[in-house]
Amino acid sequence: MEFPAYRPRRLRRTDTLRSMVRETSLDARDLIYPLFVKAGEGLRDEVTSMPGVFQITLDQLPGEIDELKELGIPAVILFGLPESKDEAGSGAFAEDGIVQQAIRAIKAHDPEYYVITDVCMCEYTSHGHCGALDAHGCVMNDVTLEMLAATALSHAEAGADMVAPSDMMDGRVAAIRVALDAEGYTEVPIMSYAAKYASAYYGPFRDAADSTPAFGDRRAYQMDPANTEEAMREVALDIAEGADLVMVKPALAYMDVIRRVKDEFGYPTAAYNVSGEYAMVKAAAERGWIDERRVVLETLVSMRRAGADLVITYHAKDAARWLQEN
Ligand code: PBG
Ligand code: ZN
Repeated sequence: MEFPAYRPRRLRRTDTLRSMVRETSLDARDLIYPLFVKAGEGLRDEVTSMPGVFQITLDQLPGEIDELKELGIPAVILFGLPESKDEAGSGAFAEDGIVQQAIRAIKAHDPEYYVITDVCMCEYTSHGHCGALDAHGCVMNDVTLEMLAATALSHAEAGADMVAPSDMMDGRVAAIRVALDAEGYTEVPIMSYAAKYASAYYGPFRDAADSTPAFGDRRAYQMDPANTEEAMREVALDIAEGADLVMVKPALAYMDVIRRVKDEFGYPTAAYNVSGEYAMVKAAAERGWIDERRVVLETLVSMRRAGADLVITYHAKDAARWLQEN
């Protein structure tokens, strides 16, 4: 149909009409909130490069969970800051590790609240890489698989509802699935960071999680930002190994990848709206250069439009509040 018979503006005239024909929804239920947990008491330390994001101690978790529930945000993803780090990253799979304690604290407060855990070694290794190093400082794939499987299993034992490996080792989804199943955790889903790029947008997170590599970078295990065919192979591999949900990370500069993953695999798909994306919005908003509320809601609905079923985002609480007001 053509103008003047077809006038697209006809359906844009009022709020009611616009909402009746809206194609994409954004709801607090689609959001996952990252939490950074550390030892100590009574602390909420704001991350300098991420205003509004805090490293919190275990005692803060019940209040945090109550607030998230109130806002309708169904799940958290946990990151831990251990008291000490070592070459082997043993804090990642310790029974009384910080994440394991955090899971128990949340579950003691509310057994129903959904707890996802990030599974990786970089917050726990003294060198800050995502696995065990060989003599040349290269991350050894197959040795690391055992550490990741042990970590995921220890999270499940502590009560985690879902595990999310973010390390980008080859074969880690299968290794984790086998380890979980062997101990009876057949119902714990794996959300794999399937297409995870070696991105400069993780900068602020590494302050938040204290996980900056002591030397080098992660380009020998995370993906080249120039590649999408490779992302398809990564996702196919993770699905073949048993991933229940797949993630694309970062989100904003990789919307095409989110769309392709959703179209080609039709799997539950998550997008990680990462720390650098958050920091840019916050910095511009602080200067009054952008309208934070509108930019955030537009960004999140765009990720949903690109094909993400779920969005992991530091904006979750603000967005949920704004959506309640709308
Ligand atoms: C750990 C991990 C990282 C992020 C999530 N899990 C950092 C990294 O890979 O360097 C990044 C999250 C963000 O930037 O918000 N491997
Ligand atoms: Zn890592």
